[in-house]
Amino acid sequence: MIRNNNSLLLQLFSFLLLLFPQIIKSQEKSFSRQPSGQFIFTPHERSDSEPQQVHISLVGKDHMRVSWVTEDKHARSVVEYGTKQGGEYEAKSKGEHTSYNYFMYQSGKIHHVVIGPLKPNTNYFYRCGGLGPEFSFKTPPLNFPIEFAVVGDLGQTEWTASTLKHVNSKDYDVFLLPGDLSYADTQQPLWDSFGRLVEPYASQRPWMVTQGNHEVEILPITEPTGFKAYNSRWPNPHKESGSNSNLYYSFEVSGTHIIMLGSYTDFDDQSEQYTWLVDDLGKVDRKRTPWVVVLLHAPWYNTNEAHQGEGESMRKSMEDLLYEARVDLVFAGHVHAYERFTRVYDNNADPCGPMYVTIGDGGNREGLALSYKKPVSPLSLYREASFGHGRLRIVNETHAHWSWHRNNDSDAFVADDVWIQSLISFKECWNTQQHHLVAHQEL
Ligand SMILES: *[C@@H]1O[C@H](CO)[C@@H](O)[C@H](O)[C@H]1NC(C)=O
Ligand SMILES: *[C@@H]1O[C@H](CO)[C@@H](O)[C@H](O)[C@H]1NC(C)=O
Ligand SMILES: [Fe+2]
Repeated sequence: MIRNNNSLLLQLFSFLLLLFPQIIKSQEKSFSRQPSGQFIFTPHERSDSEPQQVHISLVGKDHMRVSWVTEDKHARSVVEYGTKQGGEYEAKSKGEHTSYNYFMYQSGKIHHVVIGPLKPNTNYFYRCGGLGPEFSFKTPPLNFPIEFAVVGDLGQTEWTASTLKHVNSKDYDVFLLPGDLSYADTQQPLWDSFGRLVEPYASQRPWMVTQGNHEVEILPITEPTGFKAYNSRWPNPHKESGSNSNLYYSFEVSGTHIIMLGSYTDFDDQSEQYTWLVDDLGKVDRKRTPWVVVLLHAPWYNTNEAHQGEGESMRKSMEDLLYEARVDLVFAGHVHAYERFTRVYDNNADPCGPMYVTIGDGGNREGLALSYKKPVSPLSLYREASFGHGRLRIVNETHAHWSWHRNNDSDAFVADDVWIQSLISFKECWNTQQHHLVAHQEL
């Protein structure tokens, strides 16, 4: 019964896929891309009351949100959990649920349950809704070292599967995604397929995401505001960081303050996001979080031919804020390739500016962005159009190791890597800033 349903759905989606991507692709003809991998549709193989698409995300200092979907509208929004394997759970939390309609599509019941307080660096076992398989995750450590896997523009193709396998082949603590998740592009069942594809990974380590253009999904008349699927399925801990929008927020983990910005919501100096960012940067305590990292989707610095200038108005609006706050690193996606810049401020190398990285090569069905501008800008230190993922291992208050792993190599092979020092290590950067601030006040 379930099998039959799936093959029917599969046929329907393959048909829709033939139609829709052409419409979307036709807007992006100005650059060349390598062909993408085969699309993977991940079918629903559990019973309707069992949880599917399980993923977890950090909430506050020591809590985790568990999210999943059931076809069954009566399934309960509860999570049982504990440190012992095999169904002996010490604790239980109740949560909330939601669902949404989108054109002809009606979502399943989407459950969100916050559990905790949890101990750091500890394995937990959990079950969703009182039935179905047992899952497990490890909480991040309280202190350094911590390792982040960073993957943008993921999608659901054979390259996506390859990227996730590479990420998983070596342990890490938190998964960071600078936008473009499912590439459902209004075909809502593809959000479900994506949820099932990533479940083996996203149920084990917290996935912290921000939105890309593929999350917008505005339709004329019926869906004027956008982000319906994204906001329903991937809630972020925005309230905990004083943000009124799921489209931007911050969180702290193991000595790192991470800011997730929204490239597809207002960011001008009159916007709520801007006001929130000023406030959030003002609250950073470098003694508690020596490292400050920002993620956003459309890159502010980019020497690929693809998506030139798309991050420029956001850069003009917000770059000064990040620079004056001495943000260490900015990760972007959108361009389907890898590029690492030196520390930059206002298009010049600047030892007190953030290091910029584009990591939009997770594996989506649009393929790679192959052509780069020539000659190479001296700000761009490494650029390559290959699928892969990045790893940021923060060793201590002052040192971190960044590495980029190509999918077509064994994971042991690091195609690009660099040691970086946090800006708190450089006294001269803080003196400059003070002068700068004083100058502002005198004005
Ligand atoms: C931080 O790590 C780096 C790289 O391993 C090391 O050289 C440095 O001594 C460490 N600093 C502290 C304070 O432990
Ligand atoms: C992997 O990708 C790199 C860069 O595109 C290329 O030079 C190399 O030949 C590729 N290796 C394989 C095994 O395909
Ligand atoms: Fe994008």
